Amino acid sequence: MSKKLLLKDAHIEGIRYLETYRKQGGYTAAEKALKMTPDEILEEVKTSGLRGRGGAGFPTGMKWSFLAKPEGVPRHLVVNADESEPGTFKDRYLMEFLPHLLIEGMLISSYCLGSNVSYIYIRGEYSWIPDILEEAIDEAKAAGFLGKNILGTGFDCEIYVQRGGGAYICGEETALLESLEGKRGNPRLKPPFPAVKGLWERPTVVNNVESIAAIVPIIDITGAEYAKIGVGRSTGTKLISACGNINKPGVYEIDMTITVEEFIYSDEYCGGIPNGKKLKACIPGGSSVPIVPANLLLKTVNGEPRYMNYESLADGGFATGTMMGSGGFIVLDEDQCIVEHTMTLARFYHHESCGQCTPCREGTGWMHKILKKIEKGEGKMEDIDLLWDIQRKIEGNTICPLGDAAAWPVAAAIRHFRDEFEWHVKNPELCLTQNYGLANYADPIPVAASN
Ligand SMILES: Cc1cc2nc3c(=O)[nH]c(=O)nc-3n(C[C@H](O)[C@H](O)[C@H](O)COP(=O)(O)O)c2cc1C
Repeated sequence: MSKKLLLKDAHIEGIRYLETYRKQGGYTAAEKALKMTPDEILEEVKTSGLRGRGGAGFPTGMKWSFLAKPEGVPRHLVVNADESEPGTFKDRYLMEFLPHLLIEGMLISSYCLGSNVSYIYIRGEYSWIPDILEEAIDEAKAAGFLGKNILGTGFDCEIYVQRGGGAYICGEETALLESLEGKRGNPRLKPPFPAVKGLWERPTVVNNVESIAAIVPIIDITGAEYAKIGVGRSTGTKLISACGNINKPGVYEIDMTITVEEFIYSDEYCGGIPNGKKLKACIPGGSSVPIVPANLLLKTVNGEPRYMNYESLADGGFATGTMMGSGGFIVLDEDQCIVEHTMTLARFYHHESCGQCTPCREGTGWMHKILKKIEKGEGKMEDIDLLWDIQRKIEGNTICPLGDAAAWPVAAAIRHFRDEFEWHVKNPELCLTQNYGLANYADPIPVAASN
């Protein structure tokens, strides 16, 4: 049984409301934190080893320590609740069912960072959640956990919820800040980083919803105890949103010591694949991370079991590994067509590219166009190489990582499933009636042969 820190009370009726949240010990971590100094809190966060849960896994304590503190200039905490990465829906769960956990985490973090005005930037499509958050903020304020002179400490903090317009790019932290300032969500060139020049050119920390919620148990049990959960540099617990061809889609809290196999097949988590179908592939960290075939997903190239943590999932680099990313775990069974799947993702990235950088603006469109052609059975063998070439020219050549996010799925699909692309070229007459998955699925190629 995995240890639960964030979701331990999620099943309790009424936990969304302050009264019930308080009965479960809610806001005691905040009361403890407000008796500590900001530096002491920062040390706890550093000791915990918490890594940002938004995708990149950057150490949260280190990010906070970079925050500039020029005299007389306000600082801000901005919570990234954009959550537009396909396959990712864990932050939604936290905000919908445990809004006070996020507010409490924000109060502690705002106090530590010296932010008197903090924001939650939430994707427009989560249309019903801002009301839940605003209700929780009002309750917290009425109880003296927000507003002026919180718990008599002299610390003031207001939290505002800002609704986004529904653009994936606004999850990128600098595009988010532009949007929060009321402008078009175009990513900014870095440096300067938000820690120096962020919201309205003021020092700003941008953190994911789950990262900020995790501050509550860190203060509650101490950073040292938090660091004991998990393994290596994958400390604490991680929320995984699991979907695709599994029996039990949902949001799970894992302690990062379980194997991928256990996560997919055990009844505690995904409960296996429907109708006894075989596992074909998986995208374990949201649509941007490389897809991996079953043989490389369950074991590393050294034949070790692969674990649900940052290091193990990345083992082997992009040649044979992938990434933990945002924890959006998408499972594909033997009937799924990788070409069609890759084309669907390419359409998404083309639609969501902000258009600022030529390689991304043009390249995502070309990748979608070529994939559409191959999928329909109208492609040529050279198109596969052209596709490879285009993704290479996008990766690393754009202001923000949306370009990389668009290139990686295409690269990994060709790297691991080139035979499927070739099948589409060689069997044009079959492409409209069946797909490679249904027609030709064989057990995944052995590890050695796929290197
Ligand atoms: C195109 C794009 C979309 C992103 N979307 C999100 C998002 O929805 N939520 C999120 O927390 N981070 C997202 N990120 C990562 C953020 O830029 C940033 O790294 C993150 O909010 C930092 O929080 P953390 O350190 O707590 O992970 C996205 C990045 C890119 C390039």
